[in-house]
Amino acid sequence: MNKQAPSHVLGIETSCDETAASVVLRDSDGLGKILSNIVRSQIGEHQPYGGVVPELAARAHVVHLDDIVARALQEAGLELSKIDAVAATAGPGLIGGVLVGLTTAKALAAALGKPLIGVNHLEAHALTARLTDNIAFPYLLLLVSGGHTQFVAVRGVGDYALWGTTIDDALGEAFDKVAKMLSLGHPGGPAVEEAAKAGDATRFKFPRPLLNQDRLDFSFSGLKTAVRLQAEKIAPLGEDDIADICAGFQHSVTDIVSSRAAAALERFGREFPGYKKKLVVAGGVAANQAIAAVLEDVAARADGRLVVPPAYLCTDNGAMVAWAGAERLVFGAVDELDMAARARWPLDDKSMAVGVK
Ligand code: KG4
Ligand code: ZN
Repeated sequence: MNKQAPSHVLGIETSCDETAASVVLRDSDGLGKILSNIVRSQIGEHQPYGGVVPELAARAHVVHLDDIVARALQEAGLELSKIDAVAATAGPGLIGGVLVGLTTAKALAAALGKPLIGVNHLEAHALTARLTDNIAFPYLLLLVSGGHTQFVAVRGVGDYALWGTTIDDALGEAFDKVAKMLSLGHPGGPAVEEAAKAGDATRFKFPRPLLNQDRLDFSFSGLKTAVRLQAEKIAPLGEDDIADICAGFQHSVTDIVSSRAAAALERFGREFPGYKKKLVVAGGVAANQAIAAVLEDVAARADGRLVVPPAYLCTDNGAMVAWAGAERLVFGAVDELDMAARARWPLDDKSMAVGVK
C-alpha cells in the first residue's frame, strides 16, 4: 500500500436521534485512531412519544451541535485550524436533522478553507470495521439498524453491491415495535434482549418468513404481527409471558439472520474466490448478543471470520462519519459546498464509487 499523508478529520452525525461529533486520525499506513467521540443521545426527549419525533430531533441538534463539536475538538486536543477536512452525514436520514449537521459542516469547511465531505450514513456504518479492525476489502456487511437491514458486498470505498434487504420492516424497527406492544419502552432492542434472557424460547413458535426461499432478503412484518396476535390472545400479560414472547421472537430472529448469513457467505465464497470470508456486522442491532452468537457460529462453519465493532461504534456516532470522510479524502472524493442533503440515499448509488486503497 502506498503511504498517504496523515489526516485529521472532524465528523458530524445528526441523521437520527444522536447529536455526535468526533475527530479521527488516519495515519500514513491507513490506520485509524479515534481522538475524540462525543455522542449526545436524545432518548429522553423522545421517550414520552414512544419513538423519534423528527421535528424535535432537528431542534435538539440545532441546540446542542455547536457544543458537541467544540467538545470533540477539545478532547482531541486540536485547534479547528488543524483539521484537514470536515465530514458530515448528508443522508439518508431524517432530513431536518441531516440539514443541521451538513449545514454546520459546510460553514466550518467554508470558514477554514478545508474540504467538505458529505458522507452516506450507511457507508459510515459499512466502513467502521476498517477503523476498528483494519480489515481489507472485500468483505460482506450485514447492516442491521432501526432503519436498515441489508447484506452488502463491500468491494472498496464507495464500491458497494446490495445483495439483500428487508421487504418491509427493518430488524431494529421490529424489535422496537415488539417492545412497544409489550410496553417495554423505547428503544426496544435492548429491552427485548434483556427480557428474553429469562424467557422460554420454545413456548411460542413464531414464523420465520422467507426462510426457505433462495434469496437474501428479509421480512419481519409477519413475525411482528404473529407476536401481536399471540400477546393479545394471552392478555393480560404477566412478567413470564413477556419474557417468553421476547425469547420466542428473538429465537425466530436469530434463526432468520443465521440462515440468511450462511447463504450470503456462500455467495461471497463464489463471487470472491481466494478471499477469506469476512462477515462484518454493523448498526444498532449488532449490539444484540444472541444475534452475535449465532453469527459467530455461521462464520466459523463457513471457515470465515466475524467482525463486530464495539457496541458504541455500532450505534450512531461521529467517529464512523469522520472515518468514512478520511477514507474518501484519500481519493480526493470531496464535495461541493452546495451539496444537497438526501432523505434517501441507497448505498449502491453509482455516484459514490471511489476505489480501493
Ligand atoms: O444504528 P442505530 O443506532 O440507529 C439507526 O437506526 O440508524 O440502531 C438503532 C436500532 C434500534 O431499533 C434499537 O432498538 C436497535 O438498534 N438495538 C437493538 C439492540 N440495541 C439497539 N436491537 C436488538 N438488540 C439490541 N441489544
Ligand atoms: Zn445508523
